[in-house]
Amino acid sequence: MSTTAAQVNAPAYVKNTKLIAWVAEMAALLQPKDIVWCDGSTEEYDRLCAQLVAAGSFKKLNPELRPNSYLAWTHPSDVARVEDRTYICSERKEDAGPTNNWCDPAEMRAKLQTGEQALFKGAMKGRTLYVVPFSMGPLGSNIAHIGVELSDSAYVAVNMKLMTRMGRGVIDVLGTDGEFVPCVHTVGAPLAEGQQDVAWPCNPDTKYIVHYPSTREIWSYGSGYGGNALLGKKCFALRIASTMGREQGWLAEHMLLLGVTNPEGQKYHVAAAFPSACGKTNFSMLIPPEGYKGWKVTTIGDDIAWIKPAADGKLYAINPEAGYFGVAPGTNTLTNFNCMKSLDRDVIFTNVALTDDGDVWWESMTDELPAHLVDWQGKDWTPQIAKETGAKAAHPNARFTVAATNNPALDPEWDNPAGVPIDAFIFGGRRSTTVPLVTEARDWTEGVYMAATMGSETTAAAFGAQGVVRRDPFAMLPFMGYNMSDYFQHWLNLGSKLAASGAQLPKIYCVNWFRKGADGKFVWPGYSENMRVLEWMLGRLQGKAHGVENAFGVSPTYADINWNGLNFTQEQFQSVIGIDKASWEQELKLHDELFTQLSHKLPAEMPATKAKLAQRLAA
Ligand code: GTP
Ligand code: SPV
Ligand code: MN
Repeated sequence: MSTTAAQVNAPAYVKNTKLIAWVAEMAALLQPKDIVWCDGSTEEYDRLCAQLVAAGSFKKLNPELRPNSYLAWTHPSDVARVEDRTYICSERKEDAGPTNNWCDPAEMRAKLQTGEQALFKGAMKGRTLYVVPFSMGPLGSNIAHIGVELSDSAYVAVNMKLMTRMGRGVIDVLGTDGEFVPCVHTVGAPLAEGQQDVAWPCNPDTKYIVHYPSTREIWSYGSGYGGNALLGKKCFALRIASTMGREQGWLAEHMLLLGVTNPEGQKYHVAAAFPSACGKTNFSMLIPPEGYKGWKVTTIGDDIAWIKPAADGKLYAINPEAGYFGVAPGTNTLTNFNCMKSLDRDVIFTNVALTDDGDVWWESMTDELPAHLVDWQGKDWTPQIAKETGAKAAHPNARFTVAATNNPALDPEWDNPAGVPIDAFIFGGRRSTTVPLVTEARDWTEGVYMAATMGSETTAAAFGAQGVVRRDPFAMLPFMGYNMSDYFQHWLNLGSKLAASGAQLPKIYCVNWFRKGADGKFVWPGYSENMRVLEWMLGRLQGKAHGVENAFGVSPTYADINWNGLNFTQEQFQSVIGIDKASWEQELKLHDELFTQLSHKLPAEMPATKAKLAQRLAA
């Protein structure tokens, strides 16, 4: 063993000299008390979980009710992604574009690494540095990419075990000179000699989630939560991967992937982009409702898709992840039975409530409210307290982490390195008004326009105000690694390239499950019933289903949807499908605002498509 390997405590099986040298360099910067290389074994997972229990960071749930499962409660400042603390540090500001926070890389490096007061200097004092090697995509496949996360959080290490292919197998694939994306993560809470640790270490005041696209590096400071800390997910598989995809001609998207099989046994694959907490996990695990005998939906992925054109002119998609980090509140056996089954065992819950018998609970999990709980902040919760103070038992962005293999609806192709061929793309925001239940784009460009101009009400998945309508192009606003206008162009170019090869392009749809009535309630029943919309789309792909043109695209009439097993009146349908002229005139102004913001390099197809839309609306 070389001296450096010994210094960083590298196991004998680690042969990658660049990796060893980088860990040594980082250890010198971060000054941890020791270094542990994660091998990804079950023994290691159990040991780290036991350690987290002993430290008070995890509660072990009642094994009779929830075997092999744990609950973590975070610091109240650390409950969601922090978009205003997220940076794309490209060399030039215009390459990050107007929708991203940008900082000059040299300036950022001074702040984080090199300056007198650099945040990462000594940031791991008193803590263990975990070396977490992970693969996004099946191990060793030619579409997968490897990352190594250095983190001082055991919570991160065990979550990465469930969310990615993590451990020794990755080191073996790296061999002596394999490439990896270096990811450095610290909770930003060094411990002084003898200082007692807290249950959820983080830095309540200072957080930085930083990406350097040109050198493909990720640096995350101050948060232990979700996308801020599990760096394979949004930081790597979307922000960094989107820049790789741009260079190499593929797409990294905030999309679920599902398979849908009809009673004739024909199988289709659909990729759908909905913003955070807008229904991807639910749609990907959909159980067809009564009246849909013989139909089946299977999950390939619930959050991220990597999509590449193949020699046959089709787009093939893989899920780079191996687990789900999903929203708990709202999930129950009626809304998402498959998800609830996935959560029977082997789960890490974060910020849900604890029941008196050592199980978990969250809002709308059961109709009947538990008489007593301990809420996500460790306080007593009763239905009476909730009524008086509005206190939530679970944080609205409370989540579960679970391996994909726990999902009873997992698609047999879910880790096929070749991916699945995409037949349709769906884009959908959370809009209580304006946007119809479903619209088909007349062509690729109109579809790109729909995706680019998508608006959605903000949710608890990101820190900040909720329920505010904002433009969220392609559901990628918080996850774009480069200039949004260049990204629109990338999508248009891909369409032209596929069309030139003579291939049938996937159809593009825009959906909205979230229109509300005068009573403030959702009109569309959603969840399983979204199958009716999906069936219409498949019918369109087959050239069987009928639709009518409107200003925005092509939508079904009442008679074009299969209502077998659901009582949904023509009036109700009208209220979710209708296009209100005044609202759309307002909506187009918001498209204009977006285009003004993105005017530098905005593809001419965007304003041209808008002009046609405005014309049809006026007619
Ligand atoms: P991220 O993991 O943040 O990217 O979110 P996601 O898109 O996977 O969202 P998810 O499926 O977890 O849904 C978030 C919330 O929306 C949950 O509370 C769901 O119950 C709710 N939801 C999902 N689908 C529907 C639907 O069809 N109708 C309604 N009304 N609510 C839904
Ligand atoms: C999202 O916010 O879109 C998520 C959760 O999927 S996180 O991993 O925190 O980004
Ligand atoms: Mn997401």
